[in-house]
Amino acid sequence: MTMRILFTGGSGKAGRHVIPYLVDQGHHVINIDLKPLDYPGVDNITADITDSGQMFNAMTSYANLGELEPGDGVQKLDAVVHFAAIPRILIEPDNETFRVNTIGTYNVIEAAVKLGIRKIVVASSETTYGVCFADGTVNPPTLPVEEDMDVNPMDSYGLSKVVNEKTARAFQRRSGYDIYALRIGNVIEPHEYPMFREFFANPEMRRRNIFCYIDARDLGQIVDLCLKTDGLGFEVFNAGNDTNSVNIPTAEIVERFFPGVPVTRDMGENEALYSNRKIREVLGFREEHDWRKYVS
Ligand SMILES: NC(=O)c1ccc[n+]([C@@H]2O[C@H](COP(=O)([O-])OP(=O)(O)OC[C@H]3O[C@@H](n4cnc5c(N)ncnc54)[C@H](O)[C@@H]3O)[C@@H](O)[C@H]2O)c1
Repeated sequence: MTMRILFTGGSGKAGRHVIPYLVDQGHHVINIDLKPLDYPGVDNITADITDSGQMFNAMTSYANLGELEPGDGVQKLDAVVHFAAIPRILIEPDNETFRVNTIGTYNVIEAAVKLGIRKIVVASSETTYGVCFADGTVNPPTLPVEEDMDVNPMDSYGLSKVVNEKTARAFQRRSGYDIYALRIGNVIEPHEYPMFREFFANPEMRRRNIFCYIDARDLGQIVDLCLKTDGLGFEVFNAGNDTNSVNIPTAEIVERFFPGVPVTRDMGENEALYSNRKIREVLGFREEHDWRKYVS
């Protein structure tokens, strides 16, 4: 089924690969961002997620001149995918990161739910687990990192994403609609694979990411699967690839970089410590872009 989708933040690093994936599936994508995305078939509306009125307006507007032609008014949106954010600490002051991310997410979800849009997918983050932007060396309590683990960050960005998951859960509870939060790992664009050689030479640089990566195109597949999977209510999903972002077996990574952290189940030789088991089992994700295809 093809859908009319409003996508926030589609001009950014992740969105500019996720949107083409969705367009390839036949969806009509309307990008809401502070700057447009130049991609065939994608409509753009410049709008600020921190302005609630603009979000209600963008979700009830024509997307292009062609939509005026049938003469039967504005078509309803089938889904909202919310990626717009300040994507980490150390870009804006901490309070601004928290403000934009939490108010923006509240505004987007509130408008979508009050307008009766029954499928919402929001970008959360690996940083919710509290390892990535921690002060000093912090280990996850157990490995692999799965979705039922406590989220306990100490930075404003990770905290904003925890608050956003709570916001999503509250609106889901009120509406009964489907709202899925993706705890996205470190996004890798196709041109970034040469960077992996640096990861292999200095594997410790991947510790804060719990050695995860998500190919931006595979993230497109995950978002599309969220759009196609109905009836789950509120859910969080880790969004990562099947294996770790270094050329060291999983057991050796644990021994060298997470000594003493209990491993709670048997793991495959290279199985990702940032577990993507739930998206594979619940959504049917099958990775297409293993780093081994691009890095010799
Ligand atoms: N890149 C990663 O590795 C990563 C990892 C985990 C989670 N995420 C999350 O995924 C999402 C996308 O990340 P990204 O790397 O593409 O970030 P990005 O900064 O490249 O893109 C974000 C987009 O949001 C837009 N934006 C920012 N503030 C806005 C506002 N007030 N109104 C409208 N648009 C606004 C920006 O113009 C930009 O195009 C974010 O929610 C981010 O927190 C990213």
